[in-house]
Amino acid sequence: MKLGVCYYPEHWPRSDWPEDARLMRAAGLTHVRIGEFAWSRLEPRPGAYDWAWLDTAIEVLSAAGLEVTLGTPTATPPKWLIDAYPDILPLDAHGNPRKFGSRRHYCFSSKTYRAETARIVEALARRYGAHPGVTMWQTDNEYGHHGSDESFSADAVAAFRVWLENRYTDIHALNEAWGTVFWSQEYNAFGEIDPPAATVTEANPSHRLDWRRFCSDQMCSYNQLQVDIIRRHSPGRPVTHNFIGDFYRLDHRDISRSLDIATWDSYPIGLLSESQAPRDLKARWLRAGDPDFAAFNHDVFRACAPRWAVMEQQPGPVNWATYNAAPAPGMVRVWTWEAFAHGADFVSYFRWRQAPFAQEQMHAGLLAPDRAPQPVLEEIRQVGREMERVAGMAQDRAEIAILIDYPSLWQHEIQPQGNRRGPLEPSRAAYAACRRLGRNVDIVFSDTKLDGYKVVIVPSVPVITQEMEAHLTSSGALVLATALTGSRTPEGRIPETLAPGRLRRAFDVRVEQLETLPDFVPVDVQVGEEVLRAERWRETITTGSEVLGRFADGKPAWVRNGRLYYAAFWPGESLMTELVGRLCDAAGLARRDVGPDLRLRRAGGIQFAFNYGPGRQDLCRIGAPRSADAYLIGSADLAPFDIAAWPCKAGTG
Ligand code: GAL
Repeated sequence: MKLGVCYYPEHWPRSDWPEDARLMRAAGLTHVRIGEFAWSRLEPRPGAYDWAWLDTAIEVLSAAGLEVTLGTPTATPPKWLIDAYPDILPLDAHGNPRKFGSRRHYCFSSKTYRAETARIVEALARRYGAHPGVTMWQTDNEYGHHGSDESFSADAVAAFRVWLENRYTDIHALNEAWGTVFWSQEYNAFGEIDPPAATVTEANPSHRLDWRRFCSDQMCSYNQLQVDIIRRHSPGRPVTHNFIGDFYRLDHRDISRSLDIATWDSYPIGLLSESQAPRDLKARWLRAGDPDFAAFNHDVFRACAPRWAVMEQQPGPVNWATYNAAPAPGMVRVWTWEAFAHGADFVSYFRWRQAPFAQEQMHAGLLAPDRAPQPVLEEIRQVGREMERVAGMAQDRAEIAILIDYPSLWQHEIQPQGNRRGPLEPSRAAYAACRRLGRNVDIVFSDTKLDGYKVVIVPSVPVITQEMEAHLTSSGALVLATALTGSRTPEGRIPETLAPGRLRRAFDVRVEQLETLPDFVPVDVQVGEEVLRAERWRETITTGSEVLGRFADGKPAWVRNGRLYYAAFWPGESLMTELVGRLCDAAGLARRDVGPDLRLRRAGGIQFAFNYGPGRQDLCRIGAPRSADAYLIGSADLAPFDIAAWPCKAGTG
C-alpha cells in the first residue's frame, strides 16, 4: 500500500522542483510518475536528446525519497516528427488524418512509428534503465483513448490483410466464416479486403468482430515492442501500462500478459457523468461516483496481472465530462481505501499541481495553480496515517465469479440488440448485484479455471469458446447465464445448434427466437406466486430442464438443469440482484442487502465498509460490531462518504 502522484516537472520552473518534492513527501507520498508526455523536451530536434532536465528531475525527486515511475513519451509524438513522417498520423474511417495538436495522434500499425517508438524507448531505457531512482516503467499512456484504438491508414490496411491471412489461411475459409455470400460481399483474395468502415449501411458483423480483434492485437504487439526494449535495459524493474476504466476496445487480459503490473486510471465522477446511468442515480452519486464503478475496474485489473494498482486517481473536478462536480469531502479517501481493500499496490493521484495553461487547465490537482494546497491533501495524509492500522490485509479468492470476455463485449457493440447502455451493461449489472448483496467478487476470463467457486455468473456472454464450456461444465459451481449467452460463434455467426451454442446440451435449452423490447414495456416472469420484472430481451426457448418461472404467456423463462440456471431474459440490475441472491441461498452463501450506497469488501481478515451515499449508515444492521474499540478505522456509525474497517474471520463475507 503506497501513495503516489503524477507530476510534470517540464511544466514548472526548475526552482520549484525541490519544494514540490518536499511537499509530496510531507503529504505521505512515496511514488511519483513522470515523463509520459515529454517527448518534445526529451528530443527537441531530430536526434538531439536533452536529458539534462530529466536527470535533474529524477535526482531531485529521488533525493527527497520518492520512487520514480518513468513513462515512455510515445502518446505524444512531437511536431517535427509528424512533419517528417506524416504516415504516423492515424486516419479516420473516411481516410482523413487525425491531426497534430492534442495527443494520441499515431497509428498503432504505422511502420514508421514503430521504428520511431523503438528509437525513443531504446534511448530512454538505455539512459535510465539502471538508474537507482527509477523503480518502475510505464509504457505510453492509455492505449486506445480518444478513439485511437483504430486507424484506417495504408499500413493498418496492409497489416489487417496479413492478420486475416494468418487467421484464415485460405480466402474461402474467410468467406465461409463471415458469410460473405450475403449481399455479394465475396472476396477472391486477402489483398481485396478493407477495414469495415464508411460503408453505406452496416458492415458485415464478422468482419467488424475480426477488425476489433485485429485492433486489440495491434495495441498488444505495439506494447510488446516497448516492453521488450525496457526489459533489455532495465531488467528486474516492473513494467506497467495505465489502462482506461470501463474501456472494452482493448483485451486487457491479453495485453497484461506482457506486463508485471496492470494499472488503471480511476475517474469515478467524470465517468458517471458520461455513463448511460439514469438521471436519478447521476444525481444521487454526483459527488461520489457510482459505488461499483471503481470496484468493478479494480477487480478486472486484479484479474489481469499478478499485481495491479491505480495510476491516476481523480482528486477533484475534471475538465472533460459533461458535468464536472467536485468530489464530496472525504470521497478521495474512500476511493483510495476501496482500491487498497481490493489489493492495489499503490494509488497515485492525477495530478500534483493544476496547470494554469493548455487543455487541462480546469482539471484539479492536489495543489491549486498558484501552488496552494487543496483540502484533499489532508484526506491523503489521513490515509497515510491509517495505513499502519490495517497491516495484514490479504486478498482471498472470492466465492462468486463473473465471466468477462472481450470478443463478447465487441459482439455486443456490433449487434447491440436493444442493449442501449453499452457492451459492459450486463457485466456491470452482475457486479452491482453481488456488491449489493455484500459479497466479494472475482472477475474471471476465458482461461480461468473455475474450481472452488460456488457461484459463477455468465452475464449475457455471446461468444462461448470450447475452453469456457469446459471450465463452466466442470466447475461444480452454480452457474447463472442470462439471455444471449452462447448466441455467437467466435466468428460472430449463430451457432449451428442455436443459442446457447456450446452450452446448449448442458443447459438443455434451445433458443428459438430473441425479441428486443422497449424498456418501458416490462417483461414479467411468474415464479410460483411471485411476479419478477425483467426487461428488454425475451427469448423463446424449448427446454427439457426444470422450469422455475414462466413468461405471462406461459412459455418457459427461468430454468434449471442441475446446477446450471438459464434466464431467457435480461433481468436488469434489480432482478439480477434477486436471482444472484437466490443462487447464493442455494449455494449456502450468506447475503444481506446493503442498500444502494453502502458497499463492503473483505480483504483477508479485515472487513471494510464504504459509504457512497449522503446518509449515515448503522453498520450493526449488517452484523458489524457495536463497540468503538472493535474498529481499526471508523465506527459502527458510518458518516456519509466515510469508511470503516474492523477485523473479521478470514474466509467469510
Ligand atoms: C487521463 C489521462 C491523463 C489526463 C487525465 C485527466 O485519461 O491519462 O493524462 O488527461 O485523464 O482526467
